[in-house]
Amino acid sequence: MDGQYLPMSEAKVSVLDWGFLHSDATYDTVHVWDGRFFRLDLHMDRFFRGMEKLRMNLPYDRSAIEKILSTCVALSGHKAAYVEMICTRGGSPTFSRDPRQSENRFIAFAVPFGSVASREQLERGLHVAISNTVRIPPKSIDPTIKNYHWLDLVKGLFDAYDYGAETALIVDINDNIAEGPGFNVFAVKDGRLKTPAYGVLAGITRQTVFDLCGELSLCVSAGDIDRDELKGSDEVFITSTAGGIMPVSKIDETVVGDGKVGSLTRQLTDLYWEKHA
Ligand code: PDD
Repeated sequence: MDGQYLPMSEAKVSVLDWGFLHSDATYDTVHVWDGRFFRLDLHMDRFFRGMEKLRMNLPYDRSAIEKILSTCVALSGHKAAYVEMICTRGGSPTFSRDPRQSENRFIAFAVPFGSVASREQLERGLHVAISNTVRIPPKSIDPTIKNYHWLDLVKGLFDAYDYGAETALIVDINDNIAEGPGFNVFAVKDGRLKTPAYGVLAGITRQTVFDLCGELSLCVSAGDIDRDELKGSDEVFITSTAGGIMPVSKIDETVVGDGKVGSLTRQLTDLYWEKHA
């Protein structure tokens, strides 16, 4: 935090920080596998783009931040880590309501790698429920800025738990599928892949799937997916830095495909982890 390396228990943020009070912050998460960052450049691009759009500034350039992240990982001792970098608006000593008066703050941490799905869920596929909760519309907050606005995603999760499912997908204003709490989603039908285009975070793992499809000459597109289309897919998987490519075997009461992890999902997952070597 602000140039100091601290044990997690000593890292404290002011309750007056606008990141805490107003969710006025951007962040990015990147994972480290076997001591190496995976696609750090893309995470840095998104983080810096977010700060620019939010008119935030830090006294660090990219290489300084990369150095801080590497030091955090080294000090944490984790070989497989989940690393988060955060820029908050900060606060003003005079409690000004003018965001231009705030000094923006940088915080980074490294914790052990944790996945959206357990090993057992990865083998059998997740049970997902589609919630009626609407993801914050693209025109209210630019969804390409990675942000902490998760009220809709957390409500979706509670809806899913009430339903008896393991995680959630929420919808856009037109009731098409948007994304889930910390992940994007892909549908596979007749060998073609599709993922929602609007109102979703431009995920790095989502981008990685696009890149892998290019390598495998698979047809992939971004566009609207309604509930029936998703449920009628041959395969469905979700993507996140927190877990990679993860299969979905049931949506609400509908079994996806034959209920097992699909062959394309398996092929893409294997290739994804090969890239980490
Ligand atoms: N979440 N959508 C949302 C709302 C997210 O928060 C995330 C990432 C994604 C997937 O993006 P990526 O592939 O770049 O990780 C999609 C991070 C991992 C988190 O929960 O901390």
